[in-house]
Amino acid sequence: MTPEKLLEKAKEAMLRAYAPYSGFYVGAALLTKSGRVYTGCNIENAAHTPTCCAERTAFFKAVSEGEWEFAALAVCGGERGKITGVFPPCGVCRQVMAEFCPQDFPVYLADAEGFRTMTLAQLLPLGFNGEEYLGKS
Ligand code: THU
Repeated sequence: MTPEKLLEKAKEAMLRAYAPYSGFYVGAALLTKSGRVYTGCNIENAAHTPTCCAERTAFFKAVSEGEWEFAALAVCGGERGKITGVFPPCGVCRQVMAEFCPQDFPVYLADAEGFRTMTLAQLLPLGFNGEEYLGKS
C-alpha cells in the first residue's frame, strides 16, 4: 500500500475523532505486515486524562486483534476534515510505537501540502525499550 493510500485512510479516521474539548481532530492508519489497516482517532474525555490519541487507538485496536507486526503508520491532524499542518505523535504514542516497531519503522506525517516521512529512530532517539533489564532486542 502506498503512503498516499494509507494517509487517505488516516484522513477518513480523522472525521471520526471525538474532540469536543480541544476541537483538534487526529486520524491514524496503521498498516500491518499482513496487509491489514487499523485506523484510529483521538477520543477525548471530560476528565482529560482518559483521552486516547489517534495513534494509540490504532495500535491498541491492532494488538487486541492479535496483530503485532507493523509496516507503517500514517497520521494527520487539524480541523474536522481539513489537514492544517504537520502534527507529530506525542511522546506517549512514540513510546507505544517503540514497544512494537523497529527503529526504521516509517511514520508518514501529513501536512497541508503533502506528507513527510520520519522513522521511529528520528522520532524517539535513544528510546527506552526494556532491553536494559529484559534482554529484549
Ligand atoms: N492527539 C493525538 O490524537 N495524537 C497525538 O499524538 C497528539 C495529540 C490528540 C489528543 C487530544 O484529543 C488532542 O489531540 C489535543 O491534544
